[in-house]
Amino acid sequence: MKYAAPRGTKDILPDDSPLWQFIEGACRETFELFNYREIRTPIFEATDVFTRSIGDSTDIVKKEMYTFPDRKGRSLTLRPEATASVVRAGLENNLISPDNLLKVYYLGPMFRYERPQAGRQRQFHQAGVEAFGSNDPLLDAEVIQMAVNLFQALGLKELEVDINSVGCKKCRPAYLEALKKYFQENVKHMCKDCLARFEINPLRILDCKEEPCQKYIAKAPAMVDHLDAECKEHFKRMVGWLDGLEIKYKINDRLVRGLDYYTRTAFEVVSKQLGAQNAVCGGGRYDDLVEEMGGKSVPAIGFAIGLERIMEILRKLNVESRASNVGLYIATIGDEARKVGFDLLSKARDAGISADFDYQGRSLKAQMKAADRLKAEYVYIIGEEELKKRSAILKNMETADQHEIAFDELIDNFSGECGCGCEH
Ligand code: HAM
Repeated sequence: MKYAAPRGTKDILPDDSPLWQFIEGACRETFELFNYREIRTPIFEATDVFTRSIGDSTDIVKKEMYTFPDRKGRSLTLRPEATASVVRAGLENNLISPDNLLKVYYLGPMFRYERPQAGRQRQFHQAGVEAFGSNDPLLDAEVIQMAVNLFQALGLKELEVDINSVGCKKCRPAYLEALKKYFQENVKHMCKDCLARFEINPLRILDCKEEPCQKYIAKAPAMVDHLDAECKEHFKRMVGWLDGLEIKYKINDRLVRGLDYYTRTAFEVVSKQLGAQNAVCGGGRYDDLVEEMGGKSVPAIGFAIGLERIMEILRKLNVESRASNVGLYIATIGDEARKVGFDLLSKARDAGISADFDYQGRSLKAQMKAADRLKAEYVYIIGEEELKKRSAILKNMETADQHEIAFDELIDNFSGECGCGCEH
C-alpha cells in the first residue's frame, strides 16, 4: 500500500528547511526588534473560540473548519487562524487588560478546509503578531511598518500595502443599510454565495472573488464615506503616521477581510509576483473582540503572514538557501581510523563545528562522493599512514586546496579562511 500526504498538505523536506528557517528567523528577529514576545497556543481549541470570533457568516466558519468531537463528545476545531486563540490564552492567563500593553507573536500551522491551489493549502503556516491595550493610530502605523520592514528584511519587492477602515459598531449599521439598499437591485445577477451573504451580512459580498460579481461590487458604496467622526479621525491620523514613515500604501475601499472581528483599520499586503492567491499578509484592528470573548473592553490590532506564499516568492526570485550545513566530513579507511575519526567527529561537534561521518562502512571513494553530495566544506581523510603520523590531509572541497594538519590541532585550528587557521 502506498500512503500519500493528505490533500492540501505538504511535507517540508530537508532541502526546503534552510529557506524555511531563514524566513522564520527573519520573522522572529523583526518582531523582537519591535519588542513582541512569542506565545504558543494549542493547535486545537473549543470550537466556540473560533465561531464566535471569526463570525458565523464567514467562509472560514461556514465551510472551512476542521471540527470534530473528542472522545467525550466535546466539539474541538483545528485552529484556522491564531488571533482568537491568542485572545483566549491572553484572557485565561490574565495577560490582557485595559492598562497593560501586551505585544505577542506566533509562528505555526493553521488549518482550513479550502480547495487546494497554488498558494492555498489546507495546512499552511502563519507568522503573526497581536498587540493589545491601545487604540492609538500610531500603533496601527507601527504594526504596518513592522510588516513592511519584515518584507524588506526578506528581500521582497513589488509588494503593495492596501489599507481601509471598516468602521466600528456605531457607524457600521448605517453603512450596512446603504449596502443592502444598493445590492437589493443587483444581487439577483450575482453568485449564489452572494445571495446568501446579502441575507446574513452584506459586507461579505465585497469579499467575493467571483468574476460576474465584480462589476456590481465595484460600484457599491464605500465604508470610508460612511465612517463616523471618530473613525474618520482615527483613519486620518493613521494615514498621517504612515506618510510620516514614508510607507507607500493604497487606500482600497473594497477591502473588508474575510473575518468578522475587524473594526477600523484593515490592511493587506499583496504581491505582484503571485497568482490569484496574492495576499501575503492580512490584518487589522479588532477593538471589540476581547470584550466579546469575555474580557473587559481592550482594543487590539495584529496581522498574519502566509509563509508558504513568502516561500513561493523567494523561490521565484531564486533565493538559494544555504546549500550545506556540514563544515567537516571525516573520511576513514579501516577500523582503527574509524575509531580515531569518530573521536575527532565528537570533538568537532563539541566545538560547535557541524560535522558528519560514514555510518555504512563504505569505501573511501564512496565516502568522498557522500561528502560531495552533502556539499561538505572540508574533508579530513584518515588512513593507516595517517594513524602512524597522527596527522592527515584536510581538503577544501570547493577549491580542492589541501594540506596536512595534525589530529591534535584539527579542532582548535578549524577556523579562518582555509578551515585550519594557518597561513594558507
Ligand atoms: P487571513 O487573511 O485569513 O488573516 O490570513 C493571513 C494570511 O495567511 C493570508 O494573507 C495568506 O497569506 C495566508 N493564508 C490564509 N489562508 C491560507 C491558505 N489556505 N493557504 C496558504 N496561506 C493562507 C488571519 O488569519 C488573521 N488572524 C490575521 C490577523 C491577525 N488579524 C489580526 N491579527
